[in-house]
Amino acid sequence: MKRVYNFSPGPSALPLPVLEKAAAEMADVNGTGQSVMEMSHRSREFKAIIEKTEALLRELMDIPPAYKVLFLQGGASLQFSMIPLNLAAGEAGSPKKKASYVETGIWAKKAAEEGAKYAEALTRASSRDKAYTYIPAAPGPDPADAYYHITLNNTIVGTKWAALPQTGSVPLAADVSSCILSEPLEVSRFGILYAGAQKNLGPAGTTVVIIREDLIGRAPSWVPALLRYDIHAGEGSMYNTPPCYGIYVIGLVLEWLKALGGVKAMAELNREKADLFYACLENSRLFRSPVEKPFRSLMNIPFVCALEGKEKQAEIEVRFVKEAAAAGLVNLAGHRLVGGMRASIYNAMPLEGVRELIGFMEKFELSNKA
Ligand SMILES: Cc1ncc(COP(=O)(O)O)c(C=O)c1O
Repeated sequence: MKRVYNFSPGPSALPLPVLEKAAAEMADVNGTGQSVMEMSHRSREFKAIIEKTEALLRELMDIPPAYKVLFLQGGASLQFSMIPLNLAAGEAGSPKKKASYVETGIWAKKAAEEGAKYAEALTRASSRDKAYTYIPAAPGPDPADAYYHITLNNTIVGTKWAALPQTGSVPLAADVSSCILSEPLEVSRFGILYAGAQKNLGPAGTTVVIIREDLIGRAPSWVPALLRYDIHAGEGSMYNTPPCYGIYVIGLVLEWLKALGGVKAMAELNREKADLFYACLENSRLFRSPVEKPFRSLMNIPFVCALEGKEKQAEIEVRFVKEAAAAGLVNLAGHRLVGGMRASIYNAMPLEGVRELIGFMEKFELSNKA
């Protein structure tokens, strides 16, 4: 079997023991004689799987009892719509409620654009002036806001909030797609958290939503059933067929994380990986980080060629990504909208993978002396 070090921003590498367990259980899970893919979602066996997955997530994230955990579909992008639809939209003929957004990247901007359809959304701060390479100072909310939305970790540009904004009694809504379970998070600081699974949780197709119970049941009557938190919460994520296999794999990933020592232990490892990689960029004359230091992400680390001249930079960057892939270090190209390079080093990326990449970069630099 050949495995590469996969630095993809999502879908991303999964822990090898998880893939191996899923493979071993593919045709017969827990002695049922069935694959999870073949099982009725209403069966006792699947009920045990979804309950185990939720219980592990609650334990690992220390989710207070007053929060519901939902396993939905539609990706993180559907939450850009569901949050305003459920929390801020008005009944027909009634006004929309207010909501605040902070624009820290391309996903945050998309969330705000979608929010503007169903809420009276206001972008209260933006770091667009410097290509989103920092997190702007966040003004407090309007007390009338139905929620205050942030993107905690910005996957494309590689920034993260160094401290949460103070929103008082206004519920904080956060996209945690690319940082969930990477560091401890105080869930009670948030009204709603959501994450597409395909980075730190499992395969694409499942979206995890963690929502404070008092925020459920606020959607106007015209909001379709499948887009309502009250329907999904009332039916235990089983209003319709949930993404069963994805939920099962998330359960395996959570078991793996628990066995490694949980989120605190993972955060220490993530810090070590990121520190090593940022130190490599600091010491390099060929590569540099475009992100301001206090806001650097632990999960997504963009870097660019530090040499003068756009043509030279482009040539080096394209060649770097190609030669790295040939050396078994894949998916290092930056996002198509920003270019450059990016190493996504989620929980499943071992320290060894980061060391390999650093070693490759040092060799590449030596053979490309300006
Ligand atoms: C921070 C963030 N939000 C939202 C999305 C969109 O997620 P999805 O494709 O699950 O809709 C992504 C995807 O990479 C992301 O990184």
